[in-house]
Amino acid sequence: MNVFTKNIKDIQPSQLYISKTKLAKVEKYLDSVDISHIEPLPIKKIGKNIFFTDGHTRAFALMKRGIEEVKVYWDEDDLDWIQYLICIDWCNREGIKNIADFSDRVVDDKDYKKLWDMRCDSMQKGSVENLDYYLDIRAVSKNNEKCSICEQVLRALPNWFGIEEAIREYINGAKENTFLSAYVGDTPIGFLSVKEHNEFTSEIYVVGILKEFHRRGIGKRLIKATEEILVKENKIFLTVKTLSSSHPDEGYRKTREFYRSVGFYPLEEFTELWGNENPCLLMVKKL
Ligand SMILES: CC(C)(COP(=O)(O)OP(=O)(O)OC[C@H]1O[C@@H](n2cnc3c(N)ncnc32)[C@H](O)[C@@H]1OP(=O)(O)O)[C@@H](O)C(=O)NCCC(=O)NCCS
Repeated sequence: MNVFTKNIKDIQPSQLYISKTKLAKVEKYLDSVDISHIEPLPIKKIGKNIFFTDGHTRAFALMKRGIEEVKVYWDEDDLDWIQYLICIDWCNREGIKNIADFSDRVVDDKDYKKLWDMRCDSMQKGSVENLDYYLDIRAVSKNNEKCSICEQVLRALPNWFGIEEAIREYINGAKENTFLSAYVGDTPIGFLSVKEHNEFTSEIYVVGILKEFHRRGIGKRLIKATEEILVKENKIFLTVKTLSSSHPDEGYRKTREFYRSVGFYPLEEFTELWGNENPCLLMVKKL
């Protein structure tokens, strides 16, 4: 675990209330120990958000004692990050930007259960059973927003996008393309950029979902939303170029599985397009 320090006010909370009872216990504990030895707090970065995944009560108690720099570590657990983004959206809507904003949100146990635990329980159920309620897929038209989302997502996927020149090209190319992004609250978690070739054919220029959200049906939903736009434009074919199976890369094997599952067929392999070392597979789907 790599422990480092961070200013407590630069970390976004992911809960709305603090329990008075728990706070009393934490304060008693802090009175009994050397504060420099307390356990670091777990944090996570998704997109531009850096947030607490746990330890809000400890963080609040530390802040009350005038501590500004806290020990933290990156939470590597495989948690349901969609649920965290929903909580962050709630915090944003209620103006909770940092731990100091909890000052008037310390509530007794009964209220904590009602206001927080029960709200989370129903959200947890809903976010698994009805993702579409929390996931918003929408077209992005502003170039700076397209470029920023494209850059954030591609840079978070180094196993797929490791060549700086290619990343820059995708970011730049996004400006002219139709661009759809998937959001939870205000946080973009994936995008699809589609390029028009001619009146019959468009191409998936690049698509990416942050790794924490793979295999939740978000890619499939982005493809569906794209196809709906293209069908209205009377397009007939949607193509995509990806790394061919003659390359052993495991990440792109999964990518090809994805394209196959959403209805693309392999058409032809080209070794002259991206060079012999990166054989390119052209795939197509009839819309
Ligand atoms: C490829 C990518 C866009 C797919 O998005 P996703 O949201 O993870 O995919 P979905 O959850 O919508 O998957 C839909 C279906 O595709 C198939 N699939 C997706 N990921 C798969 C995997 N890792 N292994 C096998 N099949 C997979 C499955 O059939 C899946 O349906 P199921 O989960 O009901 O079985 C995403 O994983 C990604 O960003 N990968 C890295 C970047 C990339 O490869 N970009 C394309 C460059 S050409």
